[in-house]
Amino acid sequence: MKPQTLTIALSKGRIFKETVPLLKAAGIEPLDDPETSRKLILDTNHEQVKLVIIRATDVPTYVQYGAADLGVAGKDVLMEHGGQGLFEMLDLKIANCRLMVAGFADRPLPRERLRVATKFVNCARHYFAAQGRQVDLIKLYGSMELAPLVGLADCIVDLVDTGNTLKANGLEPLEHMADISSRLVVNRASMTLKYPRIEKLLAQMAQAVEHRTRT
Ligand code: ATP
Ligand code: PRP
Repeated sequence: MKPQTLTIALSKGRIFKETVPLLKAAGIEPLDDPETSRKLILDTNHEQVKLVIIRATDVPTYVQYGAADLGVAGKDVLMEHGGQGLFEMLDLKIANCRLMVAGFADRPLPRERLRVATKFVNCARHYFAAQGRQVDLIKLYGSMELAPLVGLADCIVDLVDTGNTLKANGLEPLEHMADISSRLVVNRASMTLKYPRIEKLLAQMAQAVEHRTRT
């Protein structure tokens, strides 16, 4: 790729779908749809703007190491990653949800040695440590709701939007940990080296976010 190419890391699914209108407002349109194409690098209507399509949890890593200049990642993913090597520049106010502790409403959580199943182990560790609560963290990669049902854990730390997934599994939100939305992040070196281009894109996307929240 040419040195002045701008590479933006996005994940398939809700983040791609909700970011596309914001990119469009900045004049950038993908030429392929990641839901139907097997390509991992998508061209756009700008020869020098490429989209790389990766797992949501990998976005901060690509941006941290400069494999992408920019990326869109959930605040949950950014908190879990730690944010090294990148700047969080803009709240896109998309993919909104909450990070919560969830479990059985009729079973009080044990005061000691609480077993917590989650893919957000760093977020969970900080949250419980800040309250002086001792926990055993069980790392899972998905379907966290199953863990309390089969006795693997007392509770889970997971994302909640409508609450339907918890409800369908007989669980309830118990404690609110953080409000989550997706953020535009920028590689630290790219911010300096490609400042004029990135600054313009940030301003256009910020305007689109503002416009959307007003309408
Ligand atoms: P990975 O593929 O890396 O495991 P994932 O499957 O969690 O990630 P998505 O489901 O596309 O990826 O979620 C991307 C982001 O969208 C999450 O990091 C979170 O910020 C947000 N999100 C997740 N679930 C919901 C939801 N039910 N409603 C709204 N936003 C959500
Ligand atoms: C997320 C999250 C919950 C669910 C919550 O999963 O992990 O399971 O959404 O949403 P709700 O409160 O509206 O039910 P997602 O649908 O992204 O599936 P995934 O875990 O396979 O990514």
